[in-house]
Amino acid sequence: AFEVEIASTRRIIPVAPGQSIADALLKCGIDVPMSCEQGICGTCLTKVISGIPDHRDTFLTDQERSANNQMTLCCSRSKSNRLTLAL
Ligand code: FES
Repeated sequence: AFEVEIASTRRIIPVAPGQSIADALLKCGIDVPMSCEQGICGTCLTKVISGIPDHRDTFLTDQERSANNQMTLCCSRSKSNRLTLAL
């Protein structure tokens, strides 16, 4: 498990194992634009301010992945205890 921080409000939202970040945000009333929900389309792509994403999508290139400054919220997870998102 890990948590995400919403940069604009400093709100901390826990993400349970097996739960997507998008789902955790939605349960807290934060709507993430989504389409495929499988890491293919990039609709849910969000800027990462700090933390290390665990990329599970097939949308980003290897180069984009290693920059660690954006991620797909429908399926990707976190390698760090906390991810701060530009939301
Ligand atoms: Fe398509 Fe996340 S909704 S990549």
